[in-house]
Amino acid sequence: MRDLPKSFKSVATGAALKAGDYIKRNVGKNLSVRYKGEINVVTHVDRAAERIIVNAIKKSFPGHAILAEENDYARVRSDYTWIIDPLDGTTNFLHGFPFFCVSVALFKKGKPLVGVVYDPERGELFTSARGGGAYLNRKKISVSKVRGLKKAMLVTGFAYNIKISRNNNIENFARFLKASQAVRRAGSAALDLCYVACGRFDGFWELYLNPWDTAAGALILEEAGGKITKFDGSPFTVYDKELLASNSKLHSKMISILR
Ligand code: IPD
Ligand code: CA
Ligand code: CA
Repeated sequence: MRDLPKSFKSVATGAALKAGDYIKRNVGKNLSVRYKGEINVVTHVDRAAERIIVNAIKKSFPGHAILAEENDYARVRSDYTWIIDPLDGTTNFLHGFPFFCVSVALFKKGKPLVGVVYDPERGELFTSARGGGAYLNRKKISVSKVRGLKKAMLVTGFAYNIKISRNNNIENFARFLKASQAVRRAGSAALDLCYVACGRFDGFWELYLNPWDTAAGALILEEAGGKITKFDGSPFTVYDKELLASNSKLHSKMISILR
């Protein structure tokens, strides 16, 4: 997109880096933990990281709307909405399993403009601006070339409602395990999307994700040449409750397994 102000991407990047560095400093420290559900936790680090990001955005763009995981922000009428997951992979973070990230996206009238995902443990910064490609630490990235499921490494996740929902993804998981080379459950949807974007994974599917889990990663994946839809191949929006992402070559094969 030609008219995209550089400051959008640099504010998103600055906020994600600052929050990620804060999260990294708190790895292994005593955490104050609250349960949002039986297995769904939030720590004081999630909330403080969100404050860091929201303050940075409000400072530069006070008129923009904000949709973030841990707090409701006053509804502002604006064409611009920032969609924020301050810590994606909280369960991993809580257990000291080093796979979590910060995810910051900017949407204009429902369309993604900017997506930034930062993994502070590896110092990996994934960025994209609509029409400008996708980057990992400033190097252009693209999806894998794998065409067959037997050579594919896939990733999925299971929602916090797994114990009560019939639509719990376990059958899909079993089918993909048998059809592919390997399936991982890594625990951060935003990073899962970025890993498909840079070719480490070849495909990803999940149910019941929220807009903040996917807003930045979906743009990064598309800008890297990947495809993202619902399970039946129809168009995906970040408000949908099913997501199928792939290197595009595997897409129809993955759709046929999900049927
Ligand atoms: C979770 C992660 C996980 C996915 C869950 C999400 P959170 O986000 O993205 O990979 O399986 O459905 O809720 O709670 O760690 O921000
Ligand atoms: Ca999340
Ligand atoms: Ca989160």
